[in-house]
Amino acid sequence: MSATLAVKSQEFQTNPVVPQIPGEGPPLIQLNQIHKTYTMGDVEVRAVRGVSLTIREGDFVAIMGASGSGKSTIMNIIGCLDRPTRGTYILDGQDVSGLSKDERADIRCQKIGFVFQGFNLLPRTSALENVELPMLYLGVEGVHRDERALEALAAVGLAGREQNHTNQLSGGQQQRVAVARSLVNNPALILADEPTGNLDSRTAAEVMEIFQRLNRERGITIVLVTHEQDIAHYAQRVLVFKDGKIKKDYQVDTQSEAAVELTKSSGDRVERKPARMNTTNLIMIIRVAFRALLRNKMRAALTMLGIIIGVSAVIAMVSIGQGASASVQAQIESIGTNLLFVSAGAQNVGGVRTGAGDTGTNTLTVEDLEAIKREVPSVSMVTPTVNSRQQLVSGNANWNTSVQGVSEQYPDIRKWNVQSGEFFTEGDVRSAARVIVVGQTIGDNLFAGMDPVGQSVRVMNLPFRVVGVMARKGQDPQGRDQVDIAFAPYTTVQKKILGTPRLQIAYVSAISQDATYTAQSQITDLLRQRHELSASEANDFTVRNMTDIAEAANETSNTMTILLACIAGVSLLVGGIGIMNIMLVSVTERTREIGIRLAIGARSSAVRSQFLIESIVLSVIGGLVGIAVGIAVSLAIPKMLGWPTLVSTTSIIGSVIFSAAVGIFFGYYPARKAAALDPIEALRYE
Ligand SMILES: Nc1ncnc2c1ncn2[C@@H]1O[C@H](COP(=O)(O)OP(=O)(O)OP(=O)(O)O)[C@@H](O)[C@H]1O
Ligand SMILES: [Mg+2]
Repeated sequence: MSATLAVKSQEFQTNPVVPQIPGEGPPLIQLNQIHKTYTMGDVEVRAVRGVSLTIREGDFVAIMGASGSGKSTIMNIIGCLDRPTRGTYILDGQDVSGLSKDERADIRCQKIGFVFQGFNLLPRTSALENVELPMLYLGVEGVHRDERALEALAAVGLAGREQNHTNQLSGGQQQRVAVARSLVNNPALILADEPTGNLDSRTAAEVMEIFQRLNRERGITIVLVTHEQDIAHYAQRVLVFKDGKIKKDYQVDTQSEAAVELTKSSGDRVERKPARMNTTNLIMIIRVAFRALLRNKMRAALTMLGIIIGVSAVIAMVSIGQGASASVQAQIESIGTNLLFVSAGAQNVGGVRTGAGDTGTNTLTVEDLEAIKREVPSVSMVTPTVNSRQQLVSGNANWNTSVQGVSEQYPDIRKWNVQSGEFFTEGDVRSAARVIVVGQTIGDNLFAGMDPVGQSVRVMNLPFRVVGVMARKGQDPQGRDQVDIAFAPYTTVQKKILGTPRLQIAYVSAISQDATYTAQSQITDLLRQRHELSASEANDFTVRNMTDIAEAANETSNTMTILLACIAGVSLLVGGIGIMNIMLVSVTERTREIGIRLAIGARSSAVRSQFLIESIVLSVIGGLVGIAVGIAVSLAIPKMLGWPTLVSTTSIIGSVIFSAAVGIFFGYYPARKAAALDPIEALRYE
């Protein structure tokens, strides 16, 4: 035997336990008339037919028999993996035949170590982690877990190979990892189903040596299934099965030297509370979930992509909506909140007539405006506006722009200053003087570099004198400065340019923002009276205030934001379905892994939590990346498309919560499916 296989006995001497003489200890396993019948359609397979058997603490029993004689079936029953169809089973004084799935999982975890037919180790996982697995479900603390796993690996001669993944180990080494895993929880009973089936005779002897030592030095009861007579003779007692019944049951006495070893002390068997969901357990399950995800990085990344796209779309869309709304608000603020518009013609919102500013209507006159200024106490300033589009010519430069006819109060009403020169005066308005004030763009285009003030421009072949240049102000909805405009006295525009006294719109300034509603109704009353409208006649003018306009604009942009967010939300939903899809595939693909976890004592809840946490981790990481992408996109949009955006914290917090919810919602079904698997069937799954 290899020297490395020697069990370092002092490592297991923490709690001395009274050693048992084989065949004379208290009964550990008591089977009474056990039957197991499998029904497949109308065919009945009677795998075990009435087995009664007592195995005592400290026994070392080998089970032999032809293939299909029911050996694995009886092992599964002894190991509480399966339940008998008929008969009673008392394990360590407790009747276990009627226990629930989770109760049996707890017993497996605390009392039984398995070495499965075929090693059944977790793939792409280190030897150390494989050995630690049963302790995770028993709730052993991290430090002790490492310590004990290392001890167990050393005990089977694998010191130094702890970090090797299972596929980097030979068959014999894998079998020894499986043995180390079975003994790490200090079980009362180790069940080994053909532990040497795939090994050469020397390696097989090494593995049997470990079992013998565990049996002698730690008093662990061992039941193993084998086809080979040689292997069976390492045990003290042999049971031969035939057609689901015990055919022979005899003691082996080739182990005469074993009696001497029996006086040595044996290991501790610590009673532990069954694993419950406590914080260490949760951390452990989170770690398990992370490891599982890291094993499939590419798949995890692609699964997250759905959530990333969804979350970033929501954030970007909401930020576009909010940006639009903020810029509309800013514009409205810049126009002035105590501003009112009076326009000719009725504005019938739901109806057909939309006569606001209609050039064909003649219902608003300069006299009306003068009356408003004179008679409405809540109005401080009034200016008519007359729009026209004209070609301005200076020397050989010319420029097509909007020339607005307004009164001298226009700069005060619109809170828009003159940058150089001066605005025209009341006298200019009265005398319909040919004076003009231009915006920056016109100055730049007509007088390249020169100061426009004092220059002359021609409008419709009439010379106008430039008296001032307007300051820059705000932006129009396309994001351009409002500088491509020129102002002349409204009298001049009416008489000399347009040749008509019609007015389209007047700006009225209320004395304060609070007074806008009063002003609105007073103006309405006054104009109705002046236009001699009877009670049944509708207004032939429209008075609106900025607050109404601001509200309407707000409503529009909110609707747009909600619409965009809904569209983006659909992609989040699709991302969630993607997660569910992958998790379902993963449950099927990892059936064997789930079987191993359940068989070595994981409760259904632990498996369920693991899968649930995997999907939550996927969706939350996806969500976080999505937030980063969403913010980046929101910051890039103004530069690339020129649209204003505003990243909102609500949408960020909302996305985080939503993506976690997606993980829980879409992860729950696959997780439940995984937890509901039957351990033996899952282990048998190919
Ligand atoms: N889940 C199952 N459904 C139906 N029949 C089953 C099932 N499991 C086992 N059997 C049948 O029960 C009988 C006993 O099977 P078992 O696995 O106990 O045999 P075994 O003695 O372990 O054989 P081997 O030495 O080949 O491992 C066999 O005829 C088998 O086909
Ligand atoms: Mg078998």
